[in-house]
Amino acid sequence: MKGILWLFAYGSLLWKPGVDYDRQSPGRIRGWSRRFWQGSPDHRGTIDKPGRVVTLVPEPDRKLTGVVYRLAGRNHQSTLAYLDHRESGGYQRCWVNVDTEEAGIVRALTYVALPGNPHYLGPTDTQSLRRHIERSTGPSGHNLDYHQNLMDSLSRLDLTPGELLDVAVTDLISR
Ligand code: SIN
Repeated sequence: MKGILWLFAYGSLLWKPGVDYDRQSPGRIRGWSRRFWQGSPDHRGTIDKPGRVVTLVPEPDRKLTGVVYRLAGRNHQSTLAYLDHRESGGYQRCWVNVDTEEAGIVRALTYVALPGNPHYLGPTDTQSLRRHIERSTGPSGHNLDYHQNLMDSLSRLDLTPGELLDVAVTDLISR
């Protein structure tokens, strides 16, 4: 892929983009929510004991806040190879329209793990999610650290109502 390329981050790409970029901006996509519905056999768990990580779940009328990065340079082959490998635990490329503060609406690449991928886990209740995250660890670190990094990253963004609740592992978070 050549030319200008934007990448939309809503999960681990928020705190560890791992790619060179020359511009970034908070941005929102419409019609999606962020949920801990994807199993992680390669980063925050193992094949036998997958962790739980976030994916995008279609939800009409919802807006989801993340960050867009404009990738540096104009030839993105090696960057995409890196991202495809990093997201190979069930994620696929998808295009979204992102409403940004800095650059208006941009069309961006993102990675989404859809139902039907081999590692998809689907919904669970808050207490089970918490227990699952507490007991999971993998090559990229403990699932608890993933959750904490996500909460720290989201705390720096101007979230829409309900976004924190979607990823909370304690009933005390009520926003
Ligand atoms: C993303 O961060 O935007 C993609 C999913 C992930 O790697 O957590």
